[in-house]
Amino acid sequence: MKKLLLLFVCTLLSLSIGAADKQSIRINTDNIDLILQVSPKNRLYQVYLGEKLNSTADFDHFNWNIYAGSDGAYGIRGREAYPGSGGEDMFEPALAITHADGNQTTYLYYKKSTQKAVPGGTETIIELADDKYAVQVTLHYVAYMKENVIKTWSEIKHNEKSSIILWRYASGMFYFNSSKYFLTNYHSDWAREGQPAVQQLQFGKKIVDTKLGTRAAEQSEPFFEIGFDQPAQENQGRVMLGTIGWTGNFSFTFEIDNVNCLRVIPAINSYASNYKLKAGENFKTPEFIFTLSENGTGQASRNLQNWARRYQLWNGEGNRMTLLNNWENTAFDFTQETLALLMKDAKELGVDMFLLDDGWFGNKYPRKDDRAGLGDWEPTRTKLPGGIPALTKATETAGVKFGLWIEPEMVNPKSELYEKHKNWVIELPNRETYYYRHQLVLDLSNPEVQDYVFSIVDRLMTENPSIVYFKWDCNSPITNIYSPYQKANQGNLYIEYVRGLYKVLDRIQAKYPKLEMMLCSGGGGRCDYQALKYYGEFWPSDDTDPYERLYIQYSMSKFFPSKALAAHVTNWNRRTSIKFRTDVASMCKLGFDLDLKTMKPEDYKFTQDAVTNWNRLKNVILDGELYRLISPYETHHMAVNYVSQDKKKAVLFAYDLHPRYSEPQQAVRLQGLDANRTYTVKEINLMPNTTSALHCNGQRYTGDYLMKVGLMVLSAYESASRVLELTAE
Ligand code: GLA
Repeated sequence: MKKLLLLFVCTLLSLSIGAADKQSIRINTDNIDLILQVSPKNRLYQVYLGEKLNSTADFDHFNWNIYAGSDGAYGIRGREAYPGSGGEDMFEPALAITHADGNQTTYLYYKKSTQKAVPGGTETIIELADDKYAVQVTLHYVAYMKENVIKTWSEIKHNEKSSIILWRYASGMFYFNSSKYFLTNYHSDWAREGQPAVQQLQFGKKIVDTKLGTRAAEQSEPFFEIGFDQPAQENQGRVMLGTIGWTGNFSFTFEIDNVNCLRVIPAINSYASNYKLKAGENFKTPEFIFTLSENGTGQASRNLQNWARRYQLWNGEGNRMTLLNNWENTAFDFTQETLALLMKDAKELGVDMFLLDDGWFGNKYPRKDDRAGLGDWEPTRTKLPGGIPALTKATETAGVKFGLWIEPEMVNPKSELYEKHKNWVIELPNRETYYYRHQLVLDLSNPEVQDYVFSIVDRLMTENPSIVYFKWDCNSPITNIYSPYQKANQGNLYIEYVRGLYKVLDRIQAKYPKLEMMLCSGGGGRCDYQALKYYGEFWPSDDTDPYERLYIQYSMSKFFPSKALAAHVTNWNRRTSIKFRTDVASMCKLGFDLDLKTMKPEDYKFTQDAVTNWNRLKNVILDGELYRLISPYETHHMAVNYVSQDKKKAVLFAYDLHPRYSEPQQAVRLQGLDANRTYTVKEINLMPNTTSALHCNGQRYTGDYLMKVGLMVLSAYESASRVLELTAE
């Protein structure tokens, strides 16, 4: 028995499968296999990435040497798992180092690999080292079994005589074989987040990256989709979804090589970031997260959403609060009294929290517009004589919770902080400064600044323990790039900034584990999965025009659970009905940001009922499985349905955007239901004193019928919507 146990442990440790000359390392989920192979010369190659294989005996058929039989250098070439610069591959490397002696080549050799169980799956750790330089690289792959998600990162260390310079440092490298590859990347701008761009990749490189530093995703989203053989489809075909967890400059390189193999290289962007790494220090790359699906993007999205809720997103399986925000309503123009009235409104509306946005701080330079005050996190005495305590008291009286807006990484030159600590600011000493929204970025690579930023939250929380939520904004990219702290190591700044931010967030999370935070960056300028370990939700866009929001939410839903997507009902595009705007926000995490008192009584009553409905169904909307049924990018409509994990409840959202005149409508076929159950359909979110005009309202259908035949829920009316609650018997 002991012997047997030892054998089992050894197998686990060596992880090798197959014949002695073909040592394979298998990283697998329920449906995916990533197989690496160690060559006789001890180099590590990817030999397979795709649908899971049934028999490990077949692994022997893989050959790392894809060019076997060719002469010369070709004879030793394969698809190296983590290729260094200067080697025989000659395409884009994963790692590039200028060693202490000036040599620019790195060859990595396999040392050992281990596997251990982690929540949800297995982590494979592979150690590699250069044979001529004291450089070690550790590759990490966490395979989440049920969710079919793989998360990967690497660590780089050295013991050379002096510092080395890193100029490429990928999180990992993945190779695919297909006849054609179609990339969907998502570009962005203020109020135009998540715009898909589809293109066929051809020989050479396509790089999707950002150089904005803080508001990193303002132009390029940190996620992408690849369709193999055809552009990614919702319900069929092979698809990869990938995303990088880095709240700063990232880059995705897609390179097609001479044999039509696609190489995917996710990384921190090395732009202006030749990183000086001291001996003994560990350089950890961001996590790259991906999933593969053989059934299109829909399945891939559900993989990521389930994974995120279970293993990555802050409080991913916990509750979210509905809220009333004051920004679109009052902007900077409020007093303690007007806020107290809004808190009462929040209670009457039925939401959980009142969120005070920008404009509450600064005394020497009060924040009466966006030109002053950032950095001075003291309530403006003239505006809020009772400070935050009076506000939290007023929320308690009203019976709602209190949340607060901060933008702690930033400073206005018109602030006491700037006057006192000019050397804490990223700003060029020898050129004219330019400003983005009249502000500059604090140098979070400096530990003193980290302490200061932590102290903003810490002091607010210590003095006002009843604050339950922060909206953490970040409106400026890093401009005027120069850190007084980094001195001669300016190449480390972009990276150390992000690490400094994580150090602050780690401290906040350790001290205030229940404190909920929303990630905001002038809208969706930050939305990555590392940040989402600290923030339970993000603000996908300042654009809350319901038409535009549908497109944005549709795109974002490919990568994030609705629980992470905050959506507010506002007066953007007030030509559309309150019902349409509320129904659009209700498919994500619901909030409001408008003047309730100026609403027509029937509109107001409608929103109150919609909050009640949403609260009843939030477990389905936030924690259920999402099925995208109709795309606004392909039609004049949009429809999605959520199904609870036990399939007993479902919610269908159907929207008409700009249909053609008298456009003939098709039934919407639902997905993900239990074919054998019978569901009762009820239209909800109806305007007061109206009844449903839908034939299906009140009817009973089997899941089978609903999925095969569907329901007539679309119309040819502009900006119309219907929400259906389905309850299984
Ligand atoms: C950014 C945010 C908005 C709002 C303003 C306040 O633009 O995206 O939601 O908080 O800042 O200045």
